[in-house]
Amino acid sequence: MKYQEFHRRSLQDREGFWAGEAKLVEWHKPFKQVLDYSKPPFAKWFVGGETNLCHNAVDRHLAKRADQKALVWISTEVNEEKSFTYKELHLEVNRVAAMMRSLGVKRGDRVIVYMPMIPEAVFAILACARIGAVHSVVFGGFAAASLAARIDDAKPSLMITADGGSRMGKVVLYKALVDESLRLAQHPPKKVLLFNRGLDPSLSFVKGRDVDWNEAKPKRASVPCEWLESSTPSYILYTSGTTGHPKGVQRDVGGYCVALASSMKRIFCGEPGETMFTTSDIGWVVGHSYIIYAPLIAGMTTILYEGVPIRPDAGIWWKIVEDHKVAVMFSAPTAIRVLKKHDVSFLRKHDLSSLKHLYLAGEPLDEPTHTWITQALGRPVIDHYWQTETGWPLLSAVPGVERTPLKMGSPSFPVYGYDVHLLHERTGKPVADGEKGVVTITPPLPPGCMTTVWGDDERFVRTYFKDFKNIYSTFDWGIRDKDGYYFILGRTDDVINVAGHRLGTREIEEAVSMHSNVAECAVVGVVDSLKGQMPLAFAVLKDASKGTSQQEIMETVDKQLGAIARPKAVHFVTLLPKTRSGKTLRRSIQALAEGRDPGDLTTIEDPTALEQIRKALQ
Ligand code: PRX
Repeated sequence: MKYQEFHRRSLQDREGFWAGEAKLVEWHKPFKQVLDYSKPPFAKWFVGGETNLCHNAVDRHLAKRADQKALVWISTEVNEEKSFTYKELHLEVNRVAAMMRSLGVKRGDRVIVYMPMIPEAVFAILACARIGAVHSVVFGGFAAASLAARIDDAKPSLMITADGGSRMGKVVLYKALVDESLRLAQHPPKKVLLFNRGLDPSLSFVKGRDVDWNEAKPKRASVPCEWLESSTPSYILYTSGTTGHPKGVQRDVGGYCVALASSMKRIFCGEPGETMFTTSDIGWVVGHSYIIYAPLIAGMTTILYEGVPIRPDAGIWWKIVEDHKVAVMFSAPTAIRVLKKHDVSFLRKHDLSSLKHLYLAGEPLDEPTHTWITQALGRPVIDHYWQTETGWPLLSAVPGVERTPLKMGSPSFPVYGYDVHLLHERTGKPVADGEKGVVTITPPLPPGCMTTVWGDDERFVRTYFKDFKNIYSTFDWGIRDKDGYYFILGRTDDVINVAGHRLGTREIEEAVSMHSNVAECAVVGVVDSLKGQMPLAFAVLKDASKGTSQQEIMETVDKQLGAIARPKAVHFVTLLPKTRSGKTLRRSIQALAEGRDPGDLTTIEDPTALEQIRKALQ
């Protein structure tokens, strides 16, 4: 079938279309209604149906593929490799589920998972899904204060963590940070389940609170899957937005399961028994969807990689592809830009004949990088665009339906199920081909997308459906060419993308402001040839004579948010450019920092502020 026709059908006959896709997953109880859209913009998919993500990812495969590898863990950090068949994964997940139950975790309880890229993290996540606990995985790069903010929002009954991780061969200790976050939090969980992998010689357990995973884990256990109504929350994943306060993106069970199963078939072309290698982290949405759930739901072998792309050398990923006959690979443009700096022979020396496609997402894929990797691999490299909010691709080629030609630098077309329109920023009217507009989705959002903001329905509506009346805004600029191909031009809000990590400049500003000598500050994202964007800070000090250094500010950010958010530089100024009504002119600052025209300055209060920025940048 031609793809455009397929897409049209998915919107014209929404219910018929998704009822068909829903056959890709196993239901304990069939749904009564495909879509309940009686309370827009809240969409409930597969109403009355009961299923379980862990059942679909694990138990379901025991009949046919019990001895097939489900999970392969490769760590070039601690030089270990382990694999688990579906049968073994089932056992491990049951053991962890039993442990969680014995610690009092009930259906609907939240569990924070703060873990490095180890198999135990996958067991913990699947065990939550199994018993109907809502997991909230926090990326290991976030600092204690960020973790505490997420704890206070989710109010978990349990936290699962490990002694540490490792990055570039250096141990990163988790436990002290976890202790600190629990001290800072207003709603700390009563119990902490701690997996000791032997990286921290001075690891300590808090009596009565911390439970040793290795001791508590039963030898055998059988914990049946909880059958959950389709709209039951499956997880919360915090993401950055315009405010300093992270948003808890909430997802359901049934819609997510169907969307992922469908995407594996139609977009990623992953067949049962094949291997998928996604290079993200379990703390991000790509890790949730395409390291853990989707490949397992599809009966594939998934690879969990702890390490960086250039250690021991720039051939490591391609070695993994060769050794494990990877068929589907998913990575981010930043990583490819890093690899592009190394000799292409690192790639060429490996047998990559198993690889069907490489998928890239998370940030704009520039044309030179897209061309380089396509030529190096001799395979289609599929740029696709989506967000934590959507959970699965929004714009992409859909080769499982039709092999449409790819255009370099474009994530192709709207994915089926998504009613995408580019709207004019001010008028809200659709823009013409070749004109820039905001990428929007006319609701209902398809299955798999966020169902609300955790604990705050009103914030969901206010955040996403207000700029364009009752239409979902992605907060990304886009443009469509005459052939219908989309190009993403960057965010319309204060979110920046640093090496594929999504960060809010407001969050970084709040972190900078935690330094006792900072009166106010502005953080903007500036183009970086490797990382896509980097934060750049401008700070006004309370007392300039105190000699506050750039280093001190950077350390404050490390401590508040994590080193991933550390500004590239901190410039000290005596005032920030503001409008007469007091709004900081971030766009103008950003433009200057990127060597562009600062734009309309008729509303500026004091033009000398901009002069200071100019000088500081020199
Ligand atoms: O700005 C877009 C950018 O990343 C944002 C979403 O980031 P996150 O929530 O971390 O989810 C990543 C899921 C892959 C988007 O709003 N983005 C993502 N993919 C692309 C992209 N920008 C350009 N091209 C892409 N392919």
